[in-house]
Amino acid sequence: MSYLPLSDIKIGMTLNQVFVSPNAKMIFGQGTVVNEYLLSCLKGWAVEGADVLEVATADFNIAEIEKMVSDIVITLENSTTIEKHGQVTTEAHSKIETELKRIFLRTGYHGVIPLDTILNLVNTRIYPRLSQKDSFIQLHTDSSSGDYLYRHALDVALLSGYLGRWLGYGDSDILNLTLAGLMHDIGKTRFKSEVLSKPDKLNLEEFNIAKIHASYSYQLLAQTDIVPNAVLNAVLQHHERIDGSGYPYGCSDTEVTMLARIIAVADVYDALISNRYYKRSVSPQEAIEIMMFQMSGQLDTHVLACLIEHVKKFDVGGKRSVLHNLAM
Ligand SMILES: [Fe+2]
Repeated sequence: MSYLPLSDIKIGMTLNQVFVSPNAKMIFGQGTVVNEYLLSCLKGWAVEGADVLEVATADFNIAEIEKMVSDIVITLENSTTIEKHGQVTTEAHSKIETELKRIFLRTGYHGVIPLDTILNLVNTRIYPRLSQKDSFIQLHTDSSSGDYLYRHALDVALLSGYLGRWLGYGDSDILNLTLAGLMHDIGKTRFKSEVLSKPDKLNLEEFNIAKIHASYSYQLLAQTDIVPNAVLNAVLQHHERIDGSGYPYGCSDTEVTMLARIIAVADVYDALISNRYYKRSVSPQEAIEIMMFQMSGQLDTHVLACLIEHVKKFDVGGKRSVLHNLAM
C-alpha cells in the first residue's frame, strides 16, 4: 500500500481508501479498481493523490488457461450427467458451465469482461432455460467443489431469474437479474487460486480481502459502460443485508435495491446447498432453516417466502413433506 500523487496512479491499481464526490452522489469504495473514468472523476474533484494497492496478478498464464479449459471440456464430454438427490443435470447445463469457466479465466487474465459473449450466453442459452421447469430442479444437482465459482454463477443466474419471474417482474428486470446473478462474483477472478480453493475457512485478514470482490465485480462491469445501473447496483450490493450487517457499505433497509435482495437470497441459498472446499452441502430444508432463523432480519422476507413456496412446490430432494412443516 502506498500514497501516490494522482499523476502516478495508473489504470488497474486498486484504491485503498474511499472517495466521495463533492455533491455526495458518487462513491468510489475501498477496493475499487482504477479505470479511465475513475481517474477523470478524481481529476474533476481536484483530488491530489490516493492510497492504492498493488494489483493482484493472476497466478497462471494463457497457455495454462487454455489447457485448463481443454481439460474441462474433455471431462464434461466423458461425464455428461452428475447425480444428486436422484436428479440428473443435462449436457446443456454442463456446457454453459464450461463456457462460464472460459469467461471467468479470461477475465482474470485480461482484467476485462467479454461482455458480448456474456450477453449472448444470457440471451440465447440461460434466459430460455427459465421456461424449463426442470432447470430449477437442476440447481439442486450435486457436483464437486472444484468448479464451484462457475457453477454457482450459473445457479444464481437461474435462481435469480426464477425468483424474478415468480415475484411478477417483467422481462427487462428478469434479464437484468439473470445477468447480475451470472456476474455477481466475477470480481473473484482477481484473487489468487489459493484463496478461492483454500480447504479451510478464510481467516479474518483473508476474509477482509475477499470482501472486496463485490466492488471488483462492480468495477469490471462498470468499465464496459453499457451495463444498466440496476445490474451494477445489484452486483455491488449482493452481500449487503437488510439489517445493515452486510458489506461493502453496510447499507440497510431501503438502501438495498430489490434486485440486490433477490440476488442475495439466490446467492445464500445456492451457497448453502452446494459443496465447498471447506464444507459439505446442506439439504434444501436445512438451508431454508438457516436463512429463516440464523439469518433472521438479514434477507428480504418476501423474496425468501417466494423461494420457500417454490422449493416446496417443486419437491426438491424429496423434502416436500418436511418443508411443509416449516413455520413461515
Ligand atoms: Fe459474492
